[in-house]
Amino acid sequence: MKDKFFVTSPIYYVNDVPHIGHAYTTIIAAVLAREAALRGKEVFFLTGTDEHGQKIEQAAASRGETPAVYAEKISAKFREMWDYFGIKYTRFIRTTDADHKAGVQAAFEKMWQNGDIYKGEFEGHYCVSCEAFWTDTQLMDGELCPDCGKATTILKEENYFFKLSKYQDRLLEWYASDENLILPKSRKNEVVRFAQGGLQDLSITRTTFEWGVKLPAIASDPKHIIYVWLDALMNYVTALGYGTGGKNMDFWAADYHIIGKDILRFHAVYWPAFLMSLNLALPKRIAAHGWWTRDGAKMSKSKGNVINPREVADAYSLDAFSYFMLRDVPFGQDGDFAQKALVDRINGDLANDLGNLLNRLLGMAEKYFALAIKAVNLPRFGEEKKQTDAIIEGLAPLFESLQFHRYLEELWRVFTIGNKAINDFKPWEKMKTGDSDQVAELLVFVANLLAKGAILLAPIMPSKCAAIAAALGIAINAETRKNLIEQGGWIANFTLTKRDPLFARVEALLLPEAPNIAAESSVAEKSLASATLQNCVSIDDFAKVAIKVGTILSAKKVEKSAKLLLLSVDLGEGGARQIVSGISEFYEPEAIVGAQVCVIANLKPAKIMGIESEGMILAAKDKNSLKLIRPESLTENGTLVK
Ligand code: MSP
Repeated sequence: MKDKFFVTSPIYYVNDVPHIGHAYTTIIAAVLAREAALRGKEVFFLTGTDEHGQKIEQAAASRGETPAVYAEKISAKFREMWDYFGIKYTRFIRTTDADHKAGVQAAFEKMWQNGDIYKGEFEGHYCVSCEAFWTDTQLMDGELCPDCGKATTILKEENYFFKLSKYQDRLLEWYASDENLILPKSRKNEVVRFAQGGLQDLSITRTTFEWGVKLPAIASDPKHIIYVWLDALMNYVTALGYGTGGKNMDFWAADYHIIGKDILRFHAVYWPAFLMSLNLALPKRIAAHGWWTRDGAKMSKSKGNVINPREVADAYSLDAFSYFMLRDVPFGQDGDFAQKALVDRINGDLANDLGNLLNRLLGMAEKYFALAIKAVNLPRFGEEKKQTDAIIEGLAPLFESLQFHRYLEELWRVFTIGNKAINDFKPWEKMKTGDSDQVAELLVFVANLLAKGAILLAPIMPSKCAAIAAALGIAINAETRKNLIEQGGWIANFTLTKRDPLFARVEALLLPEAPNIAAESSVAEKSLASATLQNCVSIDDFAKVAIKVGTILSAKKVEKSAKLLLLSVDLGEGGARQIVSGISEFYEPEAIVGAQVCVIANLKPAKIMGIESEGMILAAKDKNSLKLIRPESLTENGTLVK
């Protein structure tokens, strides 16, 4: 029987159309699914839409539609996007599906029977945007949601509670049981700290709106609906038939839950606690990726700089786009989408290194051997083969731990070996001296590198790899993977087929650049930008400005301002300075806490939106982006910048 492999993407809220963040999560899940299939596993790949909750109810109402009609429309957009991308999910679940709803009710009933649900009065600060309650100590500034910075509302209602506190110790034991449980490993501490901080019981029903799953009969309380996160998380098992016959439950537990870092707590704390209550196994890996920005700026509808993944894929090919996203950004870190960076990857890695290797092979094979190449087993390329085998052997752990950027970097060393072998061997000279057997040997070696490379790259770039395979006359499937990768085999003969270059070089950006999202520069800024040696200041003038290194201790958004962050900065003076800085459009508060920056320390204090600011943070700003000026390495706070 085949090994089973279960990978999930998050289910997407239907209050937004698919963008690069969603595409990234789904593409990673699809890559894992394809790889597992190539390893001969039986794969279940689950994706879908999260359609209940107040946020969706409100979004539908603002368009004058019923939630059901609205959800159907947006859900279809996600399905269309993945279908357009050729992403073959096993199931696209919708939380409005009848079997899902039945499964959620069955879970509620089971938790109830296990004594994990009780009724109580709840009053708390609720963030509609995150669909989450926060305690007083968790709030920013006494009322702002610590996750998204939006204002919370006070909600008082009679709720059913889940005994999350009961599972605190078991959760902590679980985190300690496997160091790769939460990827990247650096994120695990965050989760452990949260659980160690004390888990409070979780309110898991609502009465203030209606768009959700009703409680099961056992509760006989028709006013309540089930909390959207309990509803949503359950999708990972209801999709397998939990509560409705369980026909695919043998795929459980998930091999990978792929999610964004913003929803890690729900997946690494609440979800396993629910599973414990249901006596179900716990997921094997929870992998949280970072956030995408565009040209250094946060994406938002109002700025008009949201990336439509379909446009990028249409312009540059989905394979190149996927390669770029996985190669450029280490999994778990935030990434920036800049067209220029994508184009550099296409021209460099894809056209030059990989595409050219195939071109050179096909060109020489045609010219010298009418495309049929056969090795005669001369004792050649032994060293190169050894190097290749060693590189390939090292790839599996990189893939399993989702270090795709390292995986691809290593794989590219295989193509470099091929290009270098051709350069060093100079087959065109060997042909003149009649050593055609040796040249055939070289070309067979190179064809093998490309065959192995195509198999290893196929989960990430399926179309291009299928094209390479067709040119080499091989198939990419579990059998060839086993022969050429697992068993390290080398093919002796190839009958090649000529084809056009795999990747055309891109000479100019193919999409319009991001709109100019920075505010118009002020007149003073304009004159500074045109600074020349004619309008200079003296060194004495400059010496009046005290620029010091400081560390950002805390950051939060300034209420009612899209641009301002309120920072507290340690300038090595014993206390902290309060600084208001216009960087909110470019930096998330939590992303810059702990960062070292350069601060004008003797700027006259000024009130900005009523808040006193005691300094100015330095940043480089052009028309599209803003970047903080930071010391190259850790520097003592208070050090003067000269
Ligand atoms: N519905 C919940 C998930 C429930 S899973 C049981 C949800 N939906 S979401 O649509 O808001 O977000 C889905 C995923 O998209 C999250 O993993 C989130 O991290 C990701 N992204 C949304 N915007 C993003 C970027 N700008 N960059 C990268 N990913 C981001 O949360």
